[in-house]
Amino acid sequence: MLDQLNSIEKESLAALESVREAVALEQWRVTHLGRSAPLSNILGDLGKLSKAERPAIGKRGNEVKRALEEALAAKAEALRRAEMENAITAGAVDVTLPGRSLPTGRLHPMTQTLRQLYAVWAAMGFQVYRSREVESDEYNFELLNIPKHHPARDMQDTFYTTTPDVILRTHTSPGQIRVMREFAPEPVRVVLPGMCYRYEQITPRADIQFWQMEGLAVGKHVTMANLKATLSDFARRMFGQQVRTRFRSDHFPFTEPSAEMDVECFLCGGAGCRVCKHSGWLEILGCGMVHPTVLKNGGYDPSVHSGFAFGMGPQRITMLMHKIEDIRYFLANDLRFLEQF
Ligand code: PHE
Repeated sequence: MLDQLNSIEKESLAALESVREAVALEQWRVTHLGRSAPLSNILGDLGKLSKAERPAIGKRGNEVKRALEEALAAKAEALRRAEMENAITAGAVDVTLPGRSLPTGRLHPMTQTLRQLYAVWAAMGFQVYRSREVESDEYNFELLNIPKHHPARDMQDTFYTTTPDVILRTHTSPGQIRVMREFAPEPVRVVLPGMCYRYEQITPRADIQFWQMEGLAVGKHVTMANLKATLSDFARRMFGQQVRTRFRSDHFPFTEPSAEMDVECFLCGGAGCRVCKHSGWLEILGCGMVHPTVLKNGGYDPSVHSGFAFGMGPQRITMLMHKIEDIRYFLANDLRFLEQF
């Protein structure tokens, strides 16, 4: 009987060796420690043994049982640990892989250009002044010396609203009047950036909603020479110290004399390219000396004060700088466009 117990222990432990997972372990437990296992039968039948045999067999039987139970517990723990080990290696992170970059936002190309413009004008003593986008006929036209019959007042060009006399500004120039009326008779130097609206055919070069940036300087001795020097200085600060400028005469009702400023093409250096249409020059802005009538409307005495004004299209400048071929990209919110800046 003792031999039988010894071989039960030996065989059971040997069988446990080859157990590799939880289901097999449970089968092993039923087979070797279950109610009808050989060991259980021996322990159950102890009563049938003779008084002489019983203590030795009982002691040995319980020893074997404890040995098997301990081996079972150890095996269960080993399996559990192996399983965890496995899970860790299966979902392992390779810390040597390069990191995944997070998508970061970026500034709209117009925001970039406007900030550049603000910085340049701030360095020359011009403050940013915000004027309204919704205007009256009086400010947008009348006070700017634009007579009733002027083509700019054509129904085709202006967005009217259902409220009488409320229109969307067609340019930033009405801001000139608002600035002058706020600060006269003090000298002023301001730039006025913002949206303008025109009821026009949408094309690659013209949108119905667009940015403008107005500039205004009024003082006691502001001359045409100041205008030319200031705008040429602006062009060099914005496009490079080598850039040359030229002024061509033009006409605006609110300035006299009026001019247009060209800068030497900063893409080809004046040699001639597709962007400057082989002229070597890029038209950048309209400008002029503030018309005496406009000064008077703004609250200044034109016999004492004078001023210059200019208006530029920051979108056009951005298009030239980045060779953007269609103005409609600016407000289309297409990431393929925006992500390039
Ligand atoms: N307001 C003019 C335009 O929209 C530009 C301009 C502004 C010209 C100031 C001269 C002076 O075209």
